[in-house]
Amino acid sequence: MPYHNLAPILVLAFASAASYAASSHHGGSHIEWAACDASVVNDTSLSCGFLEVPLDYHDPSVGNARLAIIKANATGERRGSVFFNPGGPGGSGLQSVQEDKELLLQVTGGVYDIVSWDPRGVGNLTIPGEIFCFDSFADYSAFFKGTIELTGIEETGNFTEPADVKALLEQAPIMQKKYEEVGQRCRRSSSSKYLKYVGTAAAVRDMVSIANVLDGPNAPINYLGISYGTLIGSWFVNMFPERVGRVILDGVLDPIAFATEEPGKTFSSQLVSVDTIYKALITGCALTGPSGCAAASKGDGPLDIDAKFQALLKTAYDATKANASVPITSGQLRVELFGEMYSPVSWPNLANEEYPQIVQIVNGEGPANASHALRRRSKDLVRRNPLVKRGSQSNDSPSYTSIAILCGDSVDLRGTTMEDVFKGIISTARNVSHISGSVWPAPFYQCAFWPVRSAERYEGPFNKTLANRILVASNILDPITPLPSAERLAALLGQDAVLIRQNGFGHTTESAPSACMNGIFNAYMTNGTLPPNGTVCEVDADFEVFDGVNTLDILAHIPSTDV
Ligand SMILES: *[C@@H]1O[C@H](CO)[C@@H](O)[C@H](O)[C@H]1NC(C)=O
Ligand SMILES: *[C@@H]1O[C@H](CO)[C@@H](O)[C@H](O)[C@H]1NC(C)=O
Ligand SMILES: *[C@@H]1O[C@H](CO)[C@@H](O)[C@H](O)[C@H]1NC(C)=O
Ligand SMILES: *[C@@H]1O[C@H](CO)[C@@H](O)[C@H](O)[C@H]1NC(C)=O
Ligand SMILES: *[C@@H]1O[C@H](CO)[C@@H](O)[C@H](O)[C@H]1NC(C)=O
Ligand SMILES: *[C@@H]1O[C@H](CO)[C@@H](O)[C@H](O)[C@H]1NC(C)=O
Ligand SMILES: *[C@@H]1O[C@H](CO)[C@@H](O)[C@H](O)[C@H]1NC(C)=O
Ligand SMILES: *[C@@H]1O[C@H](CO)[C@@H](O)[C@H](O)[C@H]1NC(C)=O
Ligand SMILES: *[C@@H]1O[C@H](CO)[C@@H](O)[C@H](O)[C@H]1NC(C)=O
Ligand SMILES: *[C@@H]1O[C@H](CO)[C@@H](O)[C@H](O)[C@H]1NC(C)=O
Repeated sequence: MPYHNLAPILVLAFASAASYAASSHHGGSHIEWAACDASVVNDTSLSCGFLEVPLDYHDPSVGNARLAIIKANATGERRGSVFFNPGGPGGSGLQSVQEDKELLLQVTGGVYDIVSWDPRGVGNLTIPGEIFCFDSFADYSAFFKGTIELTGIEETGNFTEPADVKALLEQAPIMQKKYEEVGQRCRRSSSSKYLKYVGTAAAVRDMVSIANVLDGPNAPINYLGISYGTLIGSWFVNMFPERVGRVILDGVLDPIAFATEEPGKTFSSQLVSVDTIYKALITGCALTGPSGCAAASKGDGPLDIDAKFQALLKTAYDATKANASVPITSGQLRVELFGEMYSPVSWPNLANEEYPQIVQIVNGEGPANASHALRRRSKDLVRRNPLVKRGSQSNDSPSYTSIAILCGDSVDLRGTTMEDVFKGIISTARNVSHISGSVWPAPFYQCAFWPVRSAERYEGPFNKTLANRILVASNILDPITPLPSAERLAALLGQDAVLIRQNGFGHTTESAPSACMNGIFNAYMTNGTLPPNGTVCEVDADFEVFDGVNTLDILAHIPSTDV
């Protein structure tokens, strides 16, 4: 089973109190394994249990949280546990183990139980559970009616039209007020009392509490974290350096940036590879030609495909300017396209199934109900995109878990205004990513207006000496956790981290299959052996991104032209 089937989620902190051990005597000291709640996990080979932990590890009087935990038994001779977090923040450990059990067992050698949990703020079995700030989706839509929260931002790629700059900046006071009001609504919601107890430091201490119960209070803790799960990882290894067992962090967020900058600012530098990945898409489409990519005509080069995509965005943009009630705005198309950059395995479907329908809808040629189909689909498409709040794809009230964790962890309010945020977006669209610089809404930007900070945040240092060397992995081209973040983490940890790059594109190394990378994970997890620092793995040559076209073919033909 290829490693690319995992669905990482990333949307995307301070304390100094690493000396407070997560001590089990505040909470439970035993996990009773049983069948999982079938409404959440129906795979009977998995076991589930609960553990009570203190809501606030520094103040037992606040009361307890309850963690829902899942376990896939080791297939070989058990040597302990390996913990897994799928990212988000807000991804469900229960669901991800159910979906990816075999893969996780394979890359960890089958000698560990795979253990994960729904972190605070996730799902309906952990307490506190999913965070909602609106009573219903209708309530949410009514609140944001007529704003860019629902339509995205309209611009032509570089904010070349002065009118677009003016229109966006005029919205600044309106949107700032809206997001400030959202914060107040959340504080009045039933989730209110928990808002300061969700967050990454609590997640780290919760993992340590579970490990203490399962493997003993001094046992090394093994961990695999992808996407936002790497932030849990870099906080864990620095908060509990003496507990570090075998740890893999894949698709890395820069922990220093998160400890020192507002997430909205950091977001800009996370987008450095997006336009190159977009060029990989148009290159692959051109290389396979019309038989493998419906967007290609005979003889088209990458720039011809680009011209078609840009024309589609422009048509949607013009239509939205003429009448805001279009089935799909150019801003929504940009969000979809950004989601596609995560996952090259979905590109043939984008090019052959989605694209022709989007063209019809944008050109007003679709059947009357086509836009409903697209809306459903488009929401599906971006579901794995952390930027879109989970829950918004259905009629459910949208979840604010990602925002609560990300913003709860973030630096204190600094008086940043929405005008500052919008100016940053304009500059990002111009200087960093023409394709995705203006994606909206994104939880990152709301932290400047989020009223709560977590009871504990870890702000460093991030260069502690660890009990074991860890493995840091990154794609060369990742749309949201770019290679420079992994390089920075590896540099901080010096001799304690080995950096492995995968010569491919997509979010985390699992976005494409690589026997080389799987072998490295497996050897490290089972034997503790690490390849030379700086090793580069290729994506499997038989993995065709488009019919007859593999990753190396695409990388060799990416045009140097700006898009
Ligand atoms: C939990 O949520 C799932 C859907 O995610 C639902 O099917 C189930 O009924 C809920 N269970 C409880 C105990 O509320
Ligand atoms: C189990 O749940 C998964 C996803 O939650 C679903 O796709 C599958 O059909 C379910 N299987 C059974 C036997 O209910
Ligand atoms: C997992 O392993 C334990 C210990 O060997 C065993 O008691 C339990 O039945 C196994 N669980 C499942 C679901 O196979
Ligand atoms: C954006 O600007 C670059 C130059 O910085 C240019 O090459 C490109 O064509 C522009 N794209 C759009 C869509 O305006
Ligand atoms: C805008 O489009 C909507 C939906 O198609 C339509 O009902 C409305 O009349 C249009 N408005 C104008 C000014 O054309
Ligand atoms: C659109 O309408 C047709 C005919 O009324 C129906 O067969 C089809 O299922 C509808 N599609 C969607 C996505 O609702
Ligand atoms: C980004 O572009 C704007 C103009 O579009 C320019 O004023 C600014 O200096 C640029 N910033 C960087 C960091 O290059
Ligand atoms: C670790 O980082 C801190 C800054 O956070 C720095 O002052 C210190 O010298 C670094 N320690 C080592 C061993 O590099
Ligand atoms: C691995 O290489 C990186 C530079 O890419 C460096 O920062 C890090 O310290 C090296 N680690 C080891 C163990 O040599
Ligand atoms: C682990 O080491 C043993 C003994 O040296 C070797 O036989 C085995 O192939 C190694 N496993 C991996 C996955 O490298």
